[in-house]
Amino acid sequence: VHGRSTPNVSPTEILQLRRQIAFFVQQQKGLSLMSDSTHQNSNSPRTPMRVALLGYGTVGATVARLLTEPTFSGIELTHIFNRNVARKQAAANSIASSVVWTESIDQILGSDVDVIVELTGGVDPTEHWVRAALEKGKHVVTANKQLIALRGTDLLALAAEHDRQLLYGAAVAGGVPVIPGILQGISADRITAISGIVNGTCNFILSKMENGASYADVLAEAQGLGYAEADPSADVDGYDARAKLCILARIAMHVQLDPNTVPTQTISTIDAIDFTYAHDLNCTIRQIAQARLTAADDAETKTVQARVAPMLVPRSSPLAFSRGTQNTVVTTGQFGGDVVFSGRGAGGEPTAIAVLSDLLAVAQNAHQTAMPVHAATVDGDLAAPHYLRFVVDDRPGIVFAIAGALAAAGANIDSLLQRPGYPKHRLPFVITTESSPTSVIERAIATVSRMDFTLEPPLCLPMIAAEP
Ligand SMILES: NC(=O)c1ccc[n+]([C@@H]2O[C@H](COP(=O)([O-])OP(=O)(O)OC[C@H]3O[C@@H](n4cnc5c(N)ncnc54)[C@H](OP(=O)(O)O)[C@@H]3O)[C@@H](O)[C@H]2O)c1
Repeated sequence: VHGRSTPNVSPTEILQLRRQIAFFVQQQKGLSLMSDSTHQNSNSPRTPMRVALLGYGTVGATVARLLTEPTFSGIELTHIFNRNVARKQAAANSIASSVVWTESIDQILGSDVDVIVELTGGVDPTEHWVRAALEKGKHVVTANKQLIALRGTDLLALAAEHDRQLLYGAAVAGGVPVIPGILQGISADRITAISGIVNGTCNFILSKMENGASYADVLAEAQGLGYAEADPSADVDGYDARAKLCILARIAMHVQLDPNTVPTQTISTIDAIDFTYAHDLNCTIRQIAQARLTAADDAETKTVQARVAPMLVPRSSPLAFSRGTQNTVVTTGQFGGDVVFSGRGAGGEPTAIAVLSDLLAVAQNAHQTAMPVHAATVDGDLAAPHYLRFVVDDRPGIVFAIAGALAAAGANIDSLLQRPGYPKHRLPFVITTESSPTSVIERAIATVSRMDFTLEPPLCLPMIAAEP
């Protein structure tokens, strides 16, 4: 405050004022206040902040290792909980000898830790542990998408009731800060749509198939690399992505969706020929989790069009640039337009960084503004152009019959693609439609499936429109 005199202010008051300005500047810069205990309010964790880890697996072990870095000198790992913990302890070499290794959750809950980091996964018994931790006044950081998708609203209410923080920045897109980005960067906007690639396994498979590999071969490779489970259903059939979509819908659109009501479609029926035809349409194929707000703002119960499916994506879209296990999420805001989040969606280190960033936020006591969440019904009927791939025993009149089935259901054909070089007794060809609800297209497909020239169930994929 140069050039102004301060005649009635005592040196003590000036000192206090300086402290307040320094405090404000530090907050603005997002710097940790952990070393300045004089400014901590009653809810701030003490210094060092004491942390217990539940789960010493891929992410948990990486979090424990990275906590030894100097950046985290204000955070002390005091307990590690895991079943059969002796084998985990024997394999760990960078963990301080002061850390207590335990198989007893009661020992953790009864301890004086400030924060519990939940990295075991699953809903049961994890939900009970998280509830108990919040009720006992502990902050919770978790990467558990199933828990947050299914029980997030209740758990966040419980956290608010106990004036504790429940942060879950790693639960969607691992190391990509989609959740903090939405909460802290664009929550002032009215977000009307989300389209995301949020399952790295599916993206790995589809982006390899794009270069000519078969589904079975890439799935086996993904399993060999540890990207896909022995039973890959949660990934390839879309259940993992829909849990994440429900979390994103809650924080971006303030709606609570029941994951079980969001339709999913498997990627396992995609064939190499679909990429050939997709390229002819200047598109590629990606597993897309999509939600669009449809009802008016003032509706008591909102309606959200939501679906997880392999979709045709224009090659110019940021979604098409996602390769390998990369995740990409595009949000559309009424005022701010499109925002793209992209990066490494999984893996020990990227996910651990998201977890540790949440821990730093707890240490900084960085409360997020809670927005009211509305009940919502899911409408799985996406209005979009559709890609239909048929495999037929060729004969005259087939296109006429399919066009008739589409017209009877209320859909219009936009284009017909037939590549040369395939045998007539097993001919793949593609019809694209004008924009129609998926249910209309599925009705026509059901009719075509019963026609005797159809050799396998037709493939039906929504198409994302190119930007004008
Ligand atoms: N890995 C990623 O890239 C990634 C990305 C984003 C989010 N996440 C989420 O992060 C969490 C952890 O994932 P992760 O990949 O680290 O899993 P993980 O490797 O399977 O580790 C889980 C750990 O928790 C232990 N555990 C599981 N259930 C337990 C129980 N009931 N009692 C005691 N210990 C139990 C496991 O012990 P055992 O060794 O005996 O099984 C294992 O050590 C999950 O919620 C996951 O969805 C992971």
